[in-house]
Amino acid sequence: MGGRQELILGIESSCDETGCAVVAGGRDVRANRVASQVDLHARFGGVVPEVASRAHLEVITAIIDDALEESGTAAPDIAAVAVANEPGLIGSLLVGLSAAKALAWGWSKPLIGVNHIHAHACAPALAGDPVTYPAAALVCSGGHTSLYHCRGPADLQLLGATIDDAAGEAFDKVATILGLGYPGGPAVDRAAAGGDPRAVAFPRTLLDPSSLDFSFSGLKTAVRYHVEGVPGTAAAPGARRGRECLDDTAIRDIAASFQQAVVDVLIEKLRRAVERTAAASIIIGGGVAANTALRAAAAELARETGCPLHCPPPAYCTDNAAMIAALGWHHFTRGAVSGLDLAAAATIKR
Ligand code: KG4
Ligand code: ZN
Repeated sequence: MGGRQELILGIESSCDETGCAVVAGGRDVRANRVASQVDLHARFGGVVPEVASRAHLEVITAIIDDALEESGTAAPDIAAVAVANEPGLIGSLLVGLSAAKALAWGWSKPLIGVNHIHAHACAPALAGDPVTYPAAALVCSGGHTSLYHCRGPADLQLLGATIDDAAGEAFDKVATILGLGYPGGPAVDRAAAGGDPRAVAFPRTLLDPSSLDFSFSGLKTAVRYHVEGVPGTAAAPGARRGRECLDDTAIRDIAASFQQAVVDVLIEKLRRAVERTAAASIIIGGGVAANTALRAAAAELARETGCPLHCPPPAYCTDNAAMIAALGWHHFTRGAVSGLDLAAAATIKR
């Protein structure tokens, strides 16, 4: 990294977390502030886009002030302003992007647009865990499940992605089916800890043998049918259906079996990516990378393949602005800065 230590102010608002961070040299976190909207969306069982944008708007200025104060920095110290401008909820992205543009313009600093999913793959460096490249990176979150061949922190080639639900989305929906509450991923993780992952044989959708894409909607439906019965079919005489008929053991077993099915698919695709790209190391990131079973299975894959695993601590797996500042620094050092006409994009082309 050549010893360069420019301070980048990063802003994240792509979904339901408002974040601002100050990071030096792409790895040294001076401040990392996150305001979560989890409580706001809990009663809806998912993120409501309009509610999310308004909540970002209410806190973004205070979060930026907090990050500057905590890091002891002021405008002259900051080399550039990095912002997640894609992909995400468009209204949410626009709040962070507008704030970043205002700062960049007011402070006369470069603006740097950052891909939120690529930034997840940059998170290990924030925990003092530098990655050896080329790396195979699995980023799985509430909105995305993507596999990359990374030649460097800012040089990612997409190998595969979900064709329907994201892994985190499946966790969230299964948590709702099982009545485990919101956010679903951590709740399923906790419930699964006491369950038998072999109790229910849920499907593993691997698609084509050569495919590195994912599909989780069938698994989600399989859990629903297991709990509620297959629509149009009669329950066996005397049999009862529905979540309220399940005891705690049954819920834990279903949670563990579902989680194992997700992990088996994620790890199988990651294994294929490692082999196909002759990766020197493995990265996992995104909110689902906080999952206990996935972390354990990825560690096992690392042992089997001899590729070191880079898996950030949970606080850097879930959405944060430090990872935006980290990837922003790599863009900055390559001169990849954006204009003040930078647009937000809800989706990205494959
Ligand atoms: O990366 P992230 O914070 O936000 C997005 O970019 O979407 O990921 C959030 C997702 C949610 O679906 C959440 O349920 C899931 O990550 N998640 C987990 C765990 N912690 C968060 N999924 C499984 N196990 C966990 N421990
Ligand atoms: Zn994310």
